[in-house]
Amino acid sequence: MRPDETVFLRPDVVIEPLVMRWRAWSHLISPATAALHVTKRHIDIMRSFIHQPQVHRAAARTPELAGGPFIDLDPSRTSAVAQLLTETQEAQKPLFELADALTETVDMLRRAPRDDSLEPLYLRIPEPLRGLIELVRDAQGHAGFRLFEALLYSTSYYQKRLQSVVFRRLDPDRRPFVLSTPDVEEDGALHLARAFDSPELELILESAERPCRLGDIAEAIGCDASDARLPALFWTTPPSVAAPYDGGGVRVRYFGHATLLIEHAGVSVLTDPIVSAPTQSGAPRYGWSDLPAKIDHVLITHNHKDHFCLESLLRLRGRVAGSVVVPANAPGGLADPSMKLVLKACGFHNVVELHELDALTTPGGRILGVPFLGEHGDLDIRSKTAFLVELGGRRLLVAADSNNLDTTLYARLRTVIGDVDTIFISLECAGAPLSWLYGPLLPGPLRRDHDQSRRLSASDDARAAAMIDALGCRDVKIYAMGLEPWLRFLTGVQYPDDSIQMRAAQRLCEALSARGVSGEICRGMGEWIL
Ligand SMILES: [Fe+2]
Ligand SMILES: [Fe+2]
Repeated sequence: MRPDETVFLRPDVVIEPLVMRWRAWSHLISPATAALHVTKRHIDIMRSFIHQPQVHRAAARTPELAGGPFIDLDPSRTSAVAQLLTETQEAQKPLFELADALTETVDMLRRAPRDDSLEPLYLRIPEPLRGLIELVRDAQGHAGFRLFEALLYSTSYYQKRLQSVVFRRLDPDRRPFVLSTPDVEEDGALHLARAFDSPELELILESAERPCRLGDIAEAIGCDASDARLPALFWTTPPSVAAPYDGGGVRVRYFGHATLLIEHAGVSVLTDPIVSAPTQSGAPRYGWSDLPAKIDHVLITHNHKDHFCLESLLRLRGRVAGSVVVPANAPGGLADPSMKLVLKACGFHNVVELHELDALTTPGGRILGVPFLGEHGDLDIRSKTAFLVELGGRRLLVAADSNNLDTTLYARLRTVIGDVDTIFISLECAGAPLSWLYGPLLPGPLRRDHDQSRRLSASDDARAAAMIDALGCRDVKIYAMGLEPWLRFLTGVQYPDDSIQMRAAQRLCEALSARGVSGEICRGMGEWIL
C-alpha cells in the first residue's frame, strides 16, 4: 500500500482505549474513582501477578473464577508487568495522594460529632482535596462530602497524557477477558499514545467513514508509512452503511446484549452500543455496516461496563447527529461519576443528561427517562435510567438491568406513562458481588455475606413478571444476558442454558406464554417490526 493511496479503516480493526495500559472505562477517566481503582486494585493485582504469574494465568482461565482479579497473561510477560508497575508508581503519584486524601476525609467524617456544624472540619481537609469538595450532611444527619467533579478534570489528577489507543485486527469472538489485565502484549498491535479527544485519533476514526490518504494518517500519528502495522489496518474498500428505515411501524434490530437499533420514519435510536465486526466463521450478527450513516440519538442506560462501552462509543462519535443521552448522576457522589463529564473528556460535545420523567422530543415521538430500581448494591447511584422510547405511536420500554424491588413503582408509573407495548428487560438475576465493581470505592473490605447479599442483580422471573403486568405490557424481549460470543471480553463468562439466569429467563417465557403474552430470549441478532 502506497502512502498516496486512498484508504479506509477496515471494519475488523478493534480500537481499544487505554489509560496507563489498562482498558479505559468511566471509572478510570473520572479522577476520584480512577485514584481509588488504581491505588486499591491495579497496584495490588500487578504486585500479585509478579509474585505468582502462573497462579494468575491458571485462575484467569478457570471458568468458575472468570472475571476475578487475575491477570490473563503468559508468565513470560512478568517483566513487562513489573515495568508497568514501576511506571505506574511514578506517573500516578498524584492519584495516590488523592486516594489517600479521600480515605482520610471519609475517616474524618465518620468520626465527626453528630449534628454539629461541619465548618471547623474544612481546616482538616487533606491538602490534595482542598478546594475540591464541599462537606455536607444529608437530611438524616450523616456527614459526607460532594466532589466538584468538573473541577477535578482541570487539575493534575486528570492526566490525558496517560491515555492511549491500541489498534488490532482480531477475531472479536476470541478476545481475552480484559478488565483485569493490562495491555502489555507484544503482538504487533499499533499503539497510539494520544488522548481520546485528540485530532490524531479523530483522523483515524474518520477514515472508517470517508477516504483518507495513508500518508496523511502516518504523518499525523508520527508513524512511518512503511511500518507494516499501519497499512494492515486499512483497505481500499469503501464502507457500506445501512439505509435509514422508512418502512411502516417501528423497526428494532438486536445487535447483541443491550444494543438495540430502533428506527421509525428515518429517525434512529441506538441503545447501549457494543458493536462487533462480523467474522467469517462466527455467529451471524449485525455490525458496523448495519448502522445508518447518522444516528439521531445514542441512549446509555447506566454506568456498567457492558452498557457504557467507550470502545464502541468512540467509534460512533462522528456518527451521532443528535445527542448521546445519559442519566443525570448524583453530582459529586464518589461512587457515581458523571457519565456526561466522562464523555465530554472523550471528545463528545453533544451529551444530554436526562432526569427521571424528563423527556427529549424527537421527530415522530419522544424519549422519556424512567426510574431504574436497584442493581447497584444499595449504593446511591443515580446514573441509571430506563428509557421509554415513543416513536410512531409505539411505546417501547428499554429497561436494561432494572430490578423490580417494588412493583408499586411500576403501577404508579403506568398512571403517568400509560401502557407499554414492548419491554426489553434483562434477567441477570444473579449479578456480580458488590465489591467486583465498587470494592475500591468502599471505605474497607466488605464482609463476605454482605458482599453477596448486595449483588448487582437484575430482576428474576417473578419480579419481571410483576413489572410486566403492572405496565400492561403484552410483548417481552429478554435481552442483555451476555449471550453473544463477542461479549466475553467484557463479561468473562457466557451463561449456559442451565444457569440461574437462563433458567429464570425460560421460566418467564413459559409464564408469559400461559398468560397469552409474547416473550422471547434475544440471542445473537434479531429484527422486529412493531
Ligand atoms: Fe448493570
Ligand atoms: Fe448488564
